[in-house]
Amino acid sequence: MAEPILPGPSEITVRAPAKINLTLRVGSARRDGFHPLATVYQAVSLYEEVTATPADPGVFELEIIGEGADQLPVDDRNLAIRAAKLLAEEAALTDHVGLSLVINKQVPVAAGLAGGSADAAATLLAAAEIWELDLAPQDLQPLAARLGSDVPFALIGGTAVGSGRGESVAPALARGHYHWVLGLSSRGLSTPEVYRRYDDLGPTPPSPFEVPVDLMNALRSGDPEKLGAQLINDLQAPAIDLMPELAELLQAGRDLGAIGAVVSGSGPTCAFLARSESAAVDLTVGLSSSGLCRTARYVTGPVPGARPGGTMAWS
Ligand code: C5P
Repeated sequence: MAEPILPGPSEITVRAPAKINLTLRVGSARRDGFHPLATVYQAVSLYEEVTATPADPGVFELEIIGEGADQLPVDDRNLAIRAAKLLAEEAALTDHVGLSLVINKQVPVAAGLAGGSADAAATLLAAAEIWELDLAPQDLQPLAARLGSDVPFALIGGTAVGSGRGESVAPALARGHYHWVLGLSSRGLSTPEVYRRYDDLGPTPPSPFEVPVDLMNALRSGDPEKLGAQLINDLQAPAIDLMPELAELLQAGRDLGAIGAVVSGSGPTCAFLARSESAAVDLTVGLSSSGLCRTARYVTGPVPGARPGGTMAWS
């Protein structure tokens, strides 16, 4: 990797989006314990904001504010700290650099929206900028993949096909701008636990194992009605098995006019597709007052991946 030209900027803020999965096909567990995926991610307008400043060499520190801040560790268990240390190590700078991070969270914890992955992606970009590593976002993809299955997608955003264990991403040919409502739960679901329940339920992986052609056609058409009919998630059954109330929430969304309803990732967030902005606002109000979820958030997608926020431009 490139040598740093110090000093770099004294502060940078990067924001990275949450994701939903428009389709999530899951295969049988691999020998390494991960499951092969055929998925389509879409980045939505709910963001994590990571502000980084230089710290003394060897000091990596983190403060978290916002949604669910008190539920997260701020040490090496946190993916953002791991991301900063990994980048320092790969750049052979471990004894020469440090980083202070502040994460302002909007994305709920353990929600199936990849908030932790967004933190890691934003941290990679922020650290690369602070340490003046001459790296483009795509240069960070291999490190992102080592950090977690959803981290590479958080770097690119938009709408993308994911394969491997989810870490291998390619932009999808997609049209349209979609209005989503996220039904957020008052508690989280552990991703490994949902995958374990998936295994326990004795699933039959789809054959052929690929993203459904009808979904790709729906995305090419840009027609929300067509997309709504194609939403599918193989982790929905295990998520509902662990949290039966999700079935009721999905049905409530459909009854309130959603043209598609699906559990996002490993859940428990449910994503509802609306026909229009005004339909999404009505759906948000209806779901918020249904008593079936903690709250509902209106978001749009696709949005770009991790990039500097505020006034700084990414070159
Ligand atoms: O990659 P990530 O750290 O997000 O994965 C968290 C956990 O989810 C893994 O340890 C594994 O138990 C499960 N997982 C899986 N198959 C995948 C992705 C995640 O079994 N493709």
